[in-house]
Amino acid sequence: MKPLQKRLLFWSLFTSFIIYTAIVLTHATDEDKGTAYLTAEAKQGKLLYQKYNCTACHQLYGLGGYMGPDLTNVISTKGKGELLARAFLKTGTQKMPNFNLSDEEINALIAYLTYVDKTGISPVRDFSINADGTVELIKH
Ligand code: HEC
Repeated sequence: MKPLQKRLLFWSLFTSFIIYTAIVLTHATDEDKGTAYLTAEAKQGKLLYQKYNCTACHQLYGLGGYMGPDLTNVISTKGKGELLARAFLKTGTQKMPNFNLSDEEINALIAYLTYVDKTGISPVRDFSINADGTVELIKH
C-alpha cells in the first residue's frame, strides 16, 4: 500500500470513529428512560421494595426470585393492572405474605411499579433481530 493510500485509509477510519462516537454519546443516549415517572413517591416505593425484600419472590426486568410472578409489567398487563396490584398488597394471599402496609406505602409501591412498567418489558415474547444486531419488540 502506498503511503498516500495508508494516510487516506487512516483519516477515513479516524473520521468515521469520531462521527460514530459523537452519535453514540449524543443521539443514542437521548432515550426516554422513564425518569419523568421516577417521582419522589416512586423513589420511596423503591426503598420499600428493598425494605420488604419483594425481590426475594418477584422479578423486575427478569431478575429476582421465582416464587411469585415477574412484576415488570403488572401495571399495564390486560386483566391485571393497578387495582389487582393494590389488592395483593392490601391483603396478601395464601402464597403472598400480607405485610400490613399503610395506604401511603401501597401508593408508593404502586408508583414504583408504574415507573418500572414504563422502563422495561419482561418477559420479552415477540421480538425480531435487525440487520445491525439490535433487537426490536414486535408490537401488536
Ligand atoms: C414470600 C414471597 C413473596 C414476597 C416477599 C412478596 N410476594 Fe408478591 N406475590 C407472591 C406470590 C407467590 C404471588 C402470587 C400469589 C397468588 O397468585 O396467590 C404474588 C403476587 C403479587 C402481585 C400480583 C402479581 C400478578 O401478576 O398477579 C403483586 C403486585 C405483588 N405480589 C407485589 C409484591 C410486592 C410489591 C412485594 C413487596 C412489598 C411482594 N409482592 C412480596 C410472593 C411474594
